[in-house]
Amino acid sequence: MLIDTFGRRAVDLRVSLTDHCNLRCTYCMPEQGLAWLPKPSLLTDAEIVRLVGVAVGSLGVREVRFTGGEPLLRPGLVGIVEACAGLAPRPELSLTTNGVGLARTAEALAGAGLDRVNVSLDTVDRETFRTLTRRDRLPEVVAGLAAAGAAGLGPVKVNAVLMRGVNDHQAAELLGWCLERGYELRFIEQMPLDAQHGWERAGMVTAGEILERLGERFTLVPEPEGRRGAAPAERWLVQGFEGVDGGPARVGVIASVTRPFCRACDRTRLTADGQVRDCLFATTETDLRTALREGASDGVLAELWRKAMWGKKAGGGIDAPGFAQPDRPMSAIGG
Ligand code: GTP
Ligand code: 5AD
Ligand code: SF4
Repeated sequence: MLIDTFGRRAVDLRVSLTDHCNLRCTYCMPEQGLAWLPKPSLLTDAEIVRLVGVAVGSLGVREVRFTGGEPLLRPGLVGIVEACAGLAPRPELSLTTNGVGLARTAEALAGAGLDRVNVSLDTVDRETFRTLTRRDRLPEVVAGLAAAGAAGLGPVKVNAVLMRGVNDHQAAELLGWCLERGYELRFIEQMPLDAQHGWERAGMVTAGEILERLGERFTLVPEPEGRRGAAPAERWLVQGFEGVDGGPARVGVIASVTRPFCRACDRTRLTADGQVRDCLFATTETDLRTALREGASDGVLAELWRKAMWGKKAGGGIDAPGFAQPDRPMSAIGG
């Protein structure tokens, strides 16, 4: 079991498969990209499956989400999914992707055992998409979403970050677009995890503002208490719209900054270079790669992972005095 001193249990593992990305979202990384992780430091496909196996088999992890950078850029992704689907007990398997290339791979991923996908999409206006991501690839993302739905990788969720003066005025339009297609949209407050260290609290579009904007066009009713669990998203029912399951349609807000949910956190993270992070905002990491390559047994790896999580802090503490942004940017943590 992965338990910390606050009694939280980490049952949800997020595995970053690569720090590379084929988009250049302005709130994430600069046009020229970043100093990518050196190739020899990256876990091999087999090493990733081994560590996921330890998490699932010895540490009580029940859900595994593959992230990036952009995880579809990892050549061995389908094989990794297939091997993880063969673990016992079988974990729930999901993927967080920017959707570029998903149209080509959705079917194979579903066949390999992937259960769900979340797709990042901040706008459905082609010009705004190009400005925000510095790439003209909106049609590929739209096709990817449709392919994911058709392949049964649902319920499909869409993640959107709003940037003031860029796409914040399009929030209601994006919700309308997702409702029409049966995608569950979640707006994410921008977090101080950009490679440029340019985040400013005052510039961030808050959950309060987002709900106000949506309220101008939609009637939102808070989802009944008790449904949230450890999920980062708070959800609202959108009156007059039906969800894919025939129930009411929903919209979510992930308010990591103004309404942090750390008390219920159930996550542990593994980076593409084999480091365990106990928090998105962790400033220290535990190296599993070296132990793994020196021949450590599953038992030893599990013990290292337990120790890594035991020291987890109460929360990310974005608003706490002395908050320091971690060195590793979002694209190398996996969100
Ligand atoms: P579901 O199981 O589908 O609800 O997935 P999810 O929302 O946990 O995962 P996803 O990868 O779609 O993440 C959406 C956003 O939530 C991303 O911006 C993540 O960075 C953010 N997020 C996920 N986990 C955490 C967390 O532990 N802390 C904080 N602050 N944000 C998180
Ligand atoms: N703050 C909040 N969300 C972010 N994402 C990337 N960078 C940030 C940030 N600084 C989002 C992506 C994607 C999800 C995994 O995280 O847009 O939807
Ligand atoms: Fe968990 Fe850290 Fe995110 Fe809080 S900020 S929810 S503790 S990962």
